[in-house]
Order: sequence, then structure tokens, then C-alpha cells
Amino acid sequence: MKILLLGSGGREHTFAWKITQSRHCDHLYIAPGNAGTAELGTNVEVSPTDFEAVKALVLDKNIDLVIVGPEAPLVDGIVDFFKKDKQLRNIAIIGPNKEAAQLEGSKAFAKQFMKDMLIPTAAYREFTNDNKEEGLDYIRQHTYPVVLKADGLAAGKGVIISQSQEEAEEAFLEMLGGKFGKAGQKVVVEQFLDGIEFSVFVLTDGENYVVLPEAKDYKRIGEGDTGLNTGGMGSVSPVSFVDEALMDKVEKSIIQPTVNGLREKGIVYRGFIFFGLIVVDGDPLVIEYNCRMGDPETQVVFPRLKNDILEIFQAMESGQLATVEVQMDERAAAAVIMVSGGYPEAYEKGKEITGLETVTDSLVFHAGTKKAGESVVSNGGRVLAVTSLGNNFQDALRQSYQNIEKITFEGKYYRRDIGFDL
Ligand code: AMP
Ligand code: GLY
Repeated sequence: MKILLLGSGGREHTFAWKITQSRHCDHLYIAPGNAGTAELGTNVEVSPTDFEAVKALVLDKNIDLVIVGPEAPLVDGIVDFFKKDKQLRNIAIIGPNKEAAQLEGSKAFAKQFMKDMLIPTAAYREFTNDNKEEGLDYIRQHTYPVVLKADGLAAGKGVIISQSQEEAEEAFLEMLGGKFGKAGQKVVVEQFLDGIEFSVFVLTDGENYVVLPEAKDYKRIGEGDTGLNTGGMGSVSPVSFVDEALMDKVEKSIIQPTVNGLREKGIVYRGFIFFGLIVVDGDPLVIEYNCRMGDPETQVVFPRLKNDILEIFQAMESGQLATVEVQMDERAAAAVIMVSGGYPEAYEKGKEITGLETVTDSLVFHAGTKKAGESVVSNGGRVLAVTSLGNNFQDALRQSYQNIEKITFEGKYYRRDIGFDL
């Protein structure tokens, strides 16, 4: 099979690493990819949201299977674009269509869906400029903290947790006033849930589904989960507090009603569903859905997945997903993210990365990197993920931290406390 993978982050390097282990992979193209994916296939300078350019690439390289890494092309309707195009219609593409991707693309859609399907989630209401005053009243009567969410995609910055009425009112008016552009034309105001978060990943053909190993990510820049939100500073899998009884509740009260509910609504969901969950008083609730795999969760989930990923995709394409048995490595995986100094605020790119070849017994997944002649240089906020496997996550982390010491670039920063709350 000739495969095209869309995206350029650590998640995509991990997909590329997993895909190229399959005997069904003849050649992998990555658009646009990074310095890590360039070692595993051919990077092509095409943007995943430029559908015409993706089409030209698919036809030029005779691609059989397209895998969409990030959410933006899915929410923009890349799958619909393929299905409507005579030349692309029969090419397999892994990801939900535009309607289904609203689970991530519109918080209001996701909340209404959960309400309709009685899926446990925080109580909420949604507002626009037309009922702004009602929204302010609702906020004034709310307990604090209160959570405000811009409806649309806002590059991970659209969620504000306000500690006071004043702060909440200001954030609410800013969102409706256009701070996040179109994404903030509608605002979801919801109850703050106090608990511990983890993530569950499912691959579904709309009828059947398989559950992948669960994971926990660490989103804040600072140790002890302090400071600004980032794209993710580390992750572990499995998650020690997630036992069989909890997963059973997740499956019955969240996964099944989600997959069945989508089908009942006539929405065909084919692809990954990422459930961002929180446990409150022993019960799981949904914080958010994403319509793709997680980053940096993929960097710990795929190294534990023993199955051939292309065989899972093939089973999905041929309606055989129910026959797939997911096999997991019993060992624990931990990933530590190395970021550019200053991230998630302003940072510099183009710093030479050295020591990559000295890494032993860990996997280094590139995120924001690119080749510059013979060197590899930083090209983003999150630069590398160093993943290790061990008998427990502490052993895995120790291994990752040892290797991180050997990798250098100017301004490198990482959290030394991944897994601190487990
Ligand atoms: P999101 O952008 O939807 O992933 O939200 C970012 C983060 O905000 C989540 O990972 C949670 O840590 C936090 N969050 C979102 N909604 C809530 C909520 N209702 N209660 C508590 N924390 C929340
Ligand atoms: N790690 C969270 C995300 O991928 O959105």
C-alpha cells in the first residue's frame, strides 16, 4: 500500500513510526512532516488544509490510503471533499466527515449531543451576542470557578477557567467581542468539574469500535501543573487509577452511547474518537471530544499497541472491525516533551539539536523540527518527545530523563515531574 499521512507533529512522527513497521506499507508520504518523518518516508511540502494540493499529491503518487493526523482538515471537511470527488471517491481515508468532526469543531454541538444522549458531562448553557445579557445573568448566578469555552477551534486557547464573576464577565464579553474570531461567536458556559483527568481513544467505523490503551497528558508548562496551558508537556500510559471497573463505566456510560448516538442521529463517524475524561467521585464525565488522536498521547499509546495498525485500518475499511482484538504491551510508556525556551509564549526557532544519535533504549519522536543541511534544527514550540517503555511508568520516565540529558539545543526546557500525581 502507498500511504499518505497528513500532519507534522509528534503525533504524526509516531503514526509514521507505527505505519512503517507494517508489512503492508510499501511507501509512506508525509505532508508536510518534520525531520523525524523524513527518516521514515518522503516529506512533501503540502498543507493538510489545502485540499486541491492534497488531491494532486494523492493522484500523482497513486496513494491507496490517507490518514489525517490533525483536526483542522477534518473540521474543514477533507473527508467530504474526497467523497464528492470522482477521482478520490474510492481512496480510503481515515477520519470523520465534516458533520461528525463537529464533536471537536463545535463545543455547543458536542454539549447538545451529550445532553441528548444522556452522556455525563458538566451542566452548561450556550450564548451568542443575541442573548448576551442572559449570559451575563447566568454567569452572575453561577458558582466559581466557572468555565467559558469558545464554540469553535481556537488552537487550544479557547477554554477559560474564571475564578471570579468579574473575570468571567470580562472573558465572556471578550469572546463574544471577537477575541477568537468566528470560533467565539458562540460561547459555552459550564460548571467547573473538580477531579482527575485522563484520555481514552477509540477507532470506530460507525458501527463497531476498538478501544486503545488509555493515557494521561500534562498540559501546563510548569511543574505541579502550574502556569500556562500548552499543547502537552508529557504523557503516560497506562494510567494507574484507571482500573477495569472504571473502564467498564467509561464504556457503558460514554463510549457506547457516543457511537450509538451518532449512528442514531444519522451521523456516520469513521475514525478516531478521543474522549477527554475526568473522574469525579468515582464516576467518569466527558470534558471534551476530539476527532483525532491525541498529541502527546499517541507517543505513549502507539508504542504499547502490538497490532499492525494498517491491519486495523484495513479491517475498518472492509467492515471487519468487530473481529479485531487489540493487543497491548503490558509495560508502561512515558513521554517527556522537550520544548523551546519561552514556549507557549514567544520562542525562537532554528536552534541546532545535537546528541540525537546518542540516545539509547528510548524512542525520540520529532514534533517541531526540520532538516537544515546535515543538521536538525528546532522549528516549533514543542520540539521532541522522548518516549520509553518500562516495568512501570517511573522506570520508563527515568530512562526518558537520562536520554533527555544527552540531547541539547539552546533554550531547551522540559518538565521533570511528569506523572507526579499518579
Ligand atoms: P479543552 O480545550 O476543551 O481541552 O480544555 C482544556 C482544559 O480545560 C481541559 O483539559 C481541562 O483541564 C479544563 N477544563 C475544560 N472544561 C472543564 C470543566 N468543565 N471543568 C474543569 N476543567 C475543565
Ligand atoms: N493532548 C491533548 C490533545 O491532543 O488535544
